[in-house]
Parts: sequence; structure tokens; C-alpha cells
Amino acid sequence: MNKSKVSDIVIFGASGDLALRKLMPSLYHLGDDGHIADGSRIIAVSREDITVEVYCEHMSQRFQMEFSEGVYNEEVFQNFIKSIEYLRIDLTVEEDYKALSDLLSGYEDRERINYLSTAPSLFGIICENLNKQKLITANSRVVLEKPIGNDLKSSQVINDKVAAHFVESAIFRIDHYLGKDTVQNILALRFSNMLFAPIWNAQYIDHIQITIAESVGLEGRWAYYNDYGAMRDMVQNHMLQLLCLVTMEPPSTLDGDNVRDEKLKVIRSLRSIEGSDLKLKTVRGQYAAGVSGQKAVPGFLEEDGGNSNSDTETFVAIRADIDNWRWNGVPIYLRTGKRLREKYSEIVVDFKDVPHSIFPKGGVCIDSNKLVIRLQPDESISMFIMNKIPGLNEGMRLQQVELDLNIAKNEPRRPSAYEHLLLDLLYNNNTLFMRRDEVEAAWVWADKIIEGWKENGITPKKYTAGTDGPSSSIALIERDGRSWYEK
Ligand code: BG6
Repeated sequence: MNKSKVSDIVIFGASGDLALRKLMPSLYHLGDDGHIADGSRIIAVSREDITVEVYCEHMSQRFQMEFSEGVYNEEVFQNFIKSIEYLRIDLTVEEDYKALSDLLSGYEDRERINYLSTAPSLFGIICENLNKQKLITANSRVVLEKPIGNDLKSSQVINDKVAAHFVESAIFRIDHYLGKDTVQNILALRFSNMLFAPIWNAQYIDHIQITIAESVGLEGRWAYYNDYGAMRDMVQNHMLQLLCLVTMEPPSTLDGDNVRDEKLKVIRSLRSIEGSDLKLKTVRGQYAAGVSGQKAVPGFLEEDGGNSNSDTETFVAIRADIDNWRWNGVPIYLRTGKRLREKYSEIVVDFKDVPHSIFPKGGVCIDSNKLVIRLQPDESISMFIMNKIPGLNEGMRLQQVELDLNIAKNEPRRPSAYEHLLLDLLYNNNTLFMRRDEVEAAWVWADKIIEGWKENGITPKKYTAGTDGPSSSIALIERDGRSWYEK
């Protein structure tokens, strides 16, 4: 197996939830699968005054709690922790970085990955302190977790601080949706099958729907979420990235900049939504108390840490339009929210009707072809086509059938999005990471909507937890003579 180069992976914020729930488990699996070069080190950095043994013990407990049954293996874990070092550092104190400097000294020729799994307000100071301690080598890269700011201006401030010490090609901005297997399969589906290429445009596609529905509430993140809301937390990043992959032009290669150039063109072609369109093309919602998973759950305002004045949205539906030749007149409907009926993420490409039906009227309803790409909970790709009902039937009777294009059904364990992204990081491949101009263009479009909501006093409509969101989201798509796809 091809291994990455020997690396020092420094995880800042190593005691945080993301590190323990996603990053360390991914490194455990990558190591077990032989992707991490022998001799590589994982340096866990956190403020907690503990020993490496205590840190590893804590990690082992988390792994056993979070891994699905049968996945945790004590022998693999013992092997994994041989590569772990632990450092207590207050990230705002320059002298504290000396300990890191001592550990890294003599290893300047290695790949050096600085993963900032911390609050974005610390990104600048960490980069500055790394620079002061001369810890940024020619092989250094830095990884930034979202959210990078909460609007264009604040994201520029953070990006400027990082850019003062790292060149753009060494900055890896994570959008974990891009690491999901089925999301990458969109590229394979679109660009390795001649079948789809000629029909992937306004002539054959009626509209596209992208839904990311969550059944969970705030999970202890009320304060963060209250400042962000669904528009900043999900639409500006994950949803726009999905939209880009489905609608971008074919890049000339899979090279990072080629792919990102094409995504950027899409974001820049998004029609800005303002004025009277805000009420017609966007819906904001906020969940009220209801029932989720057969349990009574509080509304957004009554969640732990909540307050009764917030008009932050926990649901957004948008009709987006792309002003370019390929997508003229093809709406892209986006929908995301917390405390919805069930958790699923799905992209539906809905094709146009046949121009004329030759089948007898009555009893025959020709449904449009649909390509349904399900990202979670179970990843799958299905094509819905019309077919004759088999056997003897009066006249010709048709039915819609599902062609299951899924090939990986029986795999024992699907690698997580973070495994994909960390592996690309080890190989210095930035195709699935976001470039600064992309993130900024996405903020320009999202900021306009958020400002418009404020200026026009558009507040969130209440919806009951455990439902499909506010009824105005159904009205949004039905006004165009269409409806949300329900399996
Ligand atoms: C994160 C958001 O980026 O994505 C969360 O901050 C959200 O609010 C999460 O719950 C959803 O990710 P996934 O992979 O569970 O769909």
C-alpha cells in the first residue's frame, strides 16, 4: 500500500469534542489501514494539565462509547497510541509554544500538519505564535475548521491573519460534507458516465432539490448556534458546496484549483435574492416544542442556555437560481433544518416530462425521471424510470421503478468523511478543501439574504419539532407547480 510521507500531525484543541469524536478516531482507522507512514507522530495539544497516559485513557473511553459494535480493537488502539504525544499549551501564551518547539526540533524535513480544532478566534494567534517560534517549515500546512467568521468581513479578518503566515496552497479549509463518499461519487457519476453528460442541463432537467434534514436539536451548542442560525451554519457552506458539485462545469482535471475554479464560477453565478424576492424565495423557520424520536422535546427558545428573545432560524428553505447558460430557468431548491421529522441528506435531480405521451389516458401517469443521491443515513444512488407493469394487463400500464446504482452495500465499514479528508491532507491534495475566494463568494450571496431578512423584518415562522418544517416551505415550492420529493 502507498503510504503518505512521514508526518508530524499537531492537533490544537485535542481535548475538544471534534478531536475526540472525529479526528482521533479517523487517525486510528487510517493508521490501522496502513495509510500513516511509520514514525509519524500525532501531537495532541490542549490546555488541560494532564499526562499523555491520562489523555489516552480518556480517548479510549470515548472511542469505546462512540464506535459501533465490534469496531474498537484494543490491540489496534495500543498500537495507535504509540504515536501520540501530549502537550499542555495555553494557545494564547507564546512561551508555552517552547514545549512544541522542543518536540519538533530536528524534524524539520517532515510533513507538518497543524490542525486547528479550536474556536476561530484563536486561528490568528496560533499562526502568529507558530511563526514566532519558527515552527512553520516549507512542508507545513494548516487546517481550519468552520465556521470561518460569521459574515464576509469577519471571515476576511480571520483569513488575513492566517494568510500572514501561510500561503493559500498550504491552507486547508474543511467542509466535512466534501469528505462524504457519496458526495465524491457525484463527481464520478457526472464526469465518468457519458450517459449523463448530454442531459445535464436546462434542456432536460426541470429542477434540483437539496435537503439536509436533522432530527437533533442544539446538543448543548445553543450560544454558538444562536449567533449563526441555519443560514450560516449549513447553507453558506455544506449546501452551497453540494450545489456546486451538482451544477459546475466539468473541470479539466481533478486538480484542486481546477475543481475550485469551477465551483467558484457557480457561486458567482447565483442570482442574489433581495427585495420582494426574499418573501417569495426564502423561508426562515424556528422550532417550537414537539415530539422527536417519541420523546417530548423543548422548542429552540426553551433549550438549555436559550433565551426567549432570539429570532435565529433553525430552518431555511430557498429557491436559488444560477444565471448561466447551462442552468437558465432551472431552480435549485435548498432545504435544511434542525428538529425535523428524520435525519437524512439527499439530492434529487428531477428531469423534465416527456414531450408527448403515446400511452392511453386513464390509469397511466408518467412520472418524471429522477436521480436520487442519498448522502445519509444510508448512502445510495437511485434512478427512477418508467417501466411496463409485467404480465397481461389491459392496454399498456406503466409504473415507476427504482434502479439501484449502489455498489458498496455490503462493505463492513464505510470510512468517515474525516478519514477521507485527513488522508487527502496527508497526501497534500487540496481538491476537497475550500479556497478562500470560494468561501468569500459564498458569504457575499448568504450575507445579502441575511441582511435582507433584517432590513425587511422577515422573522422565522414557528414549526413543531418533529415535523417537516414550516408550511411556508411547502408553499415555496408549490408556487412553482412542484413539490418536495418524498420517498
Ligand atoms: C455541522 C454543523 O457543520 O454539520 C452542525 O455545524 C450540523 O450544526 C452538522 O449538525 C451536520 O453534519 P452531518 O454530517 O451530521 O450531516
